[in-house]
Amino acid sequence: MQGRRPLIAGNWKMHKTPAEAREWCAGFRDRLPAVPPGVDVAVCPPFTALEAVSAALRGHPAWVAAQTISDQPSGPHTGEVSASMVFGCGARGSILGHSERRAMGETDAMVASRVRAALDAGLRPIICIGESLDEREGGVTSEILADQLMVAIGVVRANEVDRIVIAYEPIWAIGTGRMATPEMAQETIAAMRASAAPHLDANRLRILYGGSVTPASARELLVAPDIDGALVGGASLDPESFAMIIEAAG
Ligand code: 13P
Repeated sequence: MQGRRPLIAGNWKMHKTPAEAREWCAGFRDRLPAVPPGVDVAVCPPFTALEAVSAALRGHPAWVAAQTISDQPSGPHTGEVSASMVFGCGARGSILGHSERRAMGETDAMVASRVRAALDAGLRPIICIGESLDEREGGVTSEILADQLMVAIGVVRANEVDRIVIAYEPIWAIGTGRMATPEMAQETIAAMRASAAPHLDANRLRILYGGSVTPASARELLVAPDIDGALVGGASLDPESFAMIIEAAG
């Protein structure tokens, strides 16, 4: 990781009511009252549990993040939630451009404007980038990833590189139990880092891997030199397995 702090982030997706979220936090605090030195941890509940999780994790080093935000500060946008609203609920970051949202029509340009809105509101964006199976098999992965990355980081200023996180999430690995091999993830992330280099200090850019990460697979993944942590879906829903992945980063 060459001086970059690892980040383990749990994306709960559309899981857990506020009561279930509080129960998770109690179990997590019992299991992991402190996180290993040098490791950052983020928990990303649905909007409706942000406040409950922020309160239940008060004093714990894990920070809380949303799963998306609007690019607009306020206005007639029914169903949308702004960066300052999630900040007010205790979030200090937000996942942006997850492939599950891109599949519903979110474009690179929309992701970029959300990245800018997040930074302007004091949130750390966790920007998701990934190729489909067809793109991987068609040999266009590096072009696809470079395109997504360039648009997203095009709105990031040089002095903001420490405030953003990129998550490489191959779409075919999400929720499938089919994790990219550590070699493939390392090679892909190293290429992404190289493609970011002309635009910002890529040695300082944190790039995570996401897609079917489990306690059993985390350690071999996290020792790779360019992989700076993990964005964990299913395995973050259980405090025990999430804690084991955090320990693997320590
Ligand atoms: P899984 O870990 O469930 O594959 O999900 C990965 C993901 O999409 C995290 O954002």
